[in-house]
Amino acid sequence: SSGPLVDAFDRRITYLRLSVTDRCDLRCTYCMPERMQFLPRKEVLSLEEMHRLALAMIDRGIRKIRLTGGEPLVRRDVIELVQALGRRLGDGLDELTLTTNGTQLATHAEALFAAGIRRVNVSLDTLDPGLFFALTRRDQLAEVLGGIRAAAAAGLQVKLNIVALKGLNRHEIPDLVAWAHGQGHEVTLIEVMPLGEVEGERVDHYLPLTAVRDDLEQRWTLVESTHRSGGPARYVDVAETGGRLGFITPLTNNFCATCNRIRVTATGQLFACLGGAEQVDLRAALRSDTPDVLLAQALDTAMAIKPERHHFSHIRGAAPAQPRHMSLTGG
Ligand code: GTP
Ligand code: 5AD
Ligand code: SF4
Repeated sequence: SSGPLVDAFDRRITYLRLSVTDRCDLRCTYCMPERMQFLPRKEVLSLEEMHRLALAMIDRGIRKIRLTGGEPLVRRDVIELVQALGRRLGDGLDELTLTTNGTQLATHAEALFAAGIRRVNVSLDTLDPGLFFALTRRDQLAEVLGGIRAAAAAGLQVKLNIVALKGLNRHEIPDLVAWAHGQGHEVTLIEVMPLGEVEGERVDHYLPLTAVRDDLEQRWTLVESTHRSGGPARYVDVAETGGRLGFITPLTNNFCATCNRIRVTATGQLFACLGGAEQVDLRAALRSDTPDVLLAQALDTAMAIKPERHHFSHIRGAAPAQPRHMSLTGG
């Protein structure tokens, strides 16, 4: 078919999360082991192939594209893909954006803005240098903070992503939110999801956002908001700071009923659901003699197999719900 992407549960798919690389310059402990095995480069799509894929998806009704990773800004020349996709803004595409760890944001902020990006999500779980090192296994907090400053100076809206971690950053979350709101940044809190083997026990640090919300309500008045960003977050306004705060609650408050998303890995595998194993090989279609026909078929298949919801439901034991790492699908 060639019409809009609608799955078996009548959900319109308009949001593509495109992972441009599985590589990363950090090693967040909840995301990957120190000795992470990255994909051989020859498996990875070229930027031209990613561009072609994205255009085919825009033709099928994708209106928002988020570049992810790994860390998207470690992919060489990724800015060329951003520029190419930026030309479709207002012409099929409503929003082009990215999720980054911020370490190289200072270098790229102005070019991102010039290409049409208006907001970026930056992962930052702590402002404490010691804890930052413990969480990311790298000493790059100053670079991330510089990246956030440069992004704001370039005109980009910055939203901070904070993964809530019991015994690690729980005590700091209210101060982190206060800091972000003070700088004019939105914040999204995220429940840690059981994807991929990591060292240590992810389950030990799982913290339901219901508990974090209680912490925050000791200090502030949270006012339910109807704001939607097009992702899974539900938002409140913090009356005292005037800032916006999002909650991404895969474990305590399922949001799959309104799912509008698909994700594609750097090797061109489409994952219909973050929590599922259902996938379709877009690279084979792309590299065939009849890419248009096979891509259309592959996207139809993806719509047919997209599950109703993920089944994380709770983190139990050391074994991940899905063996693949978050860095492969970009979340
Ligand atoms: P906005 O456009 O600002 O709404 O961003 P977003 O929340 O869509 O994207 P971001 O890359 O910042 O992702 C934040 C968190 O949401 C990450 O932990 C993602 O893994 C998670 N996330 C995004 N989409 C899904 C989804 O469909 N299912 C689940 N379980 N998590 C998701
Ligand atoms: N569970 C929840 N969020 C995660 N992220 C990375 N790994 C996980 C996980 N296992 C977050 C990153 C980033 C976003 C794309 O996903 O911190 O902000
Ligand atoms: Fe890299 Fe993101 Fe994983 Fe951190 S969470 S190691 S920034 S891919």
